[in-house]
Amino acid sequence: VKVSLISFGFLTLFTMQCSQNSKRDGLASDVWQRILASEDGSTFMEQLDAETLGEHQRNMQVIAECLPAGYPEPYLPLGRLSRKSIDPPLGRQPFLDENIIELGRLLFFDERLSFSEQHGIPGGVSCSSCHLPELYFTDGKSQSQGVQGDLTPRNSPGILNAAYASTLTWANPVFPILEMQARIPLFGDDPIEMGLRGREQEVLKKLLSEDANYQQLFATVFGVQYPRDWDLGLFDYNQITAALAAYERSLISFDTKFDRFLQGQEVLSETEHKGVQLFYGLAPLASGESLNCSQCHSGFLLTNSFHYVREGRYYNRQSFHNTGLYNIDGQGSYPPKNKGFASTLQLEENPALMGQFRAPALRFVASTAPYGHDGSLPSLEAVIEHYAAGGRASLSEQGQNPYIDELVKPGFRIEVDEVEALVDFFKMLE
Ligand code: HEC
Ligand code: HEC
Repeated sequence: VKVSLISFGFLTLFTMQCSQNSKRDGLASDVWQRILASEDGSTFMEQLDAETLGEHQRNMQVIAECLPAGYPEPYLPLGRLSRKSIDPPLGRQPFLDENIIELGRLLFFDERLSFSEQHGIPGGVSCSSCHLPELYFTDGKSQSQGVQGDLTPRNSPGILNAAYASTLTWANPVFPILEMQARIPLFGDDPIEMGLRGREQEVLKKLLSEDANYQQLFATVFGVQYPRDWDLGLFDYNQITAALAAYERSLISFDTKFDRFLQGQEVLSETEHKGVQLFYGLAPLASGESLNCSQCHSGFLLTNSFHYVREGRYYNRQSFHNTGLYNIDGQGSYPPKNKGFASTLQLEENPALMGQFRAPALRFVASTAPYGHDGSLPSLEAVIEHYAAGGRASLSEQGQNPYIDELVKPGFRIEVDEVEALVDFFKMLE
């Protein structure tokens, strides 16, 4: 097969403009400084050695036609950092190229990669059933439905720029690897999402035997021939997850009004200007208070959980916070299955870990309602109201969550036009 960049479908929508010769004005340069300062909070940094950097750059070739000047690159050598807890070697397909990305793209959109035990039939749900490209890879629902109707306890996050996530999913401190993440929807049974457990071989064989495209791409990418090599056991789900992860790593998008503003190529409206100032705490509200938003939604991705390479240096930062959405028993509890990153045992030892979630990246946020880990905030206005109250639970009978993050605790008074300015800022992020 011949696969060109043009045939990547949605990817081409997100290719960016080269932005050279730019001049940042005062505000853009203040925001740029804040974004870079977010790297200082990294828990792990490492200068890549020449060999690792070489691998990284070779992998970068296919995905970064042109990142804006000074922007970070996703970390791609995989398994070469000194800290193996962050970067475990998984024997991954080392080089990212158009073929493995194309294989991953086909799999991502393929409903045949699921099985409903209940109905006794294959098919019905693909990755893209819950991650729709037209909704920036979210699904617009509070909770998503798996192949047998099970609901996920959490809201489906977008996966553009997921290659930059230092922790995957809403609350998991040890989960930086896209290859591992993909196994949850494929094989998980609480809830059942794609339902492949126990049907792995059957589904894979069907996929290959029905589709010459897959046969060719498996041959090109992994050097295995179907049907010749099937009985030798040379096909497996590590290949599937490697391809899915490669496709996900290709979903990079930094071509928003906000990015062009940072590059000195956009003149902002008055409310956008105000929104940027408020969000970054560069100007106070009419009430005299300043917003802390950018202390958690920081950096290039607008989250303080990220990892990447910038100018040859690897940065890794992870954080989880309780924003006071719930306080169901008056003692800080969050609802079952949604208690945050801490395990039951950890919570027994340290109840203050209750309700801590990753600050989501706010790129594309104006189009990805509903919000929050369980999708319980219907609109951006509702999100701002939640923060203004010092956490939504403050408005309930049980009152403010005792373990709420200090940055959210005080709340603030905000005028209608200031809410509008923040929303206008969010609209710049797509
Ligand atoms: C039934 C709906 C559903 C299906 C099908 C599904 N996902 Fe998801 N996905 C979710 C939900 C919900 C989450 C958040 C899970 C959590 O936080 O516990 C998620 C999280 C993710 C994340 C983490 C993103 C981040 O920012 O941390 C990635 C990556 C991802 N999914 C990729 C995939 C891939 C690849 C497939 C197909 C193999 C897939 N998903 C299939 C619903 C789904
Ligand atoms: C202490 C860190 C922190 C601060 C400060 C903070 N956030 Fe958040 N933000 C989070 C976390 C954590 C979540 C997810 C909470 C959850 O679902 O339980 C979140 C969720 C959000 C969401 C929903 C995104 C989505 O995709 O669902 C938006 C929008 C948002 N915050 C905007 C803001 C704004 C605006 C401010 C300032 C007024 C702000 N945040 C201040 C940590 C923070």
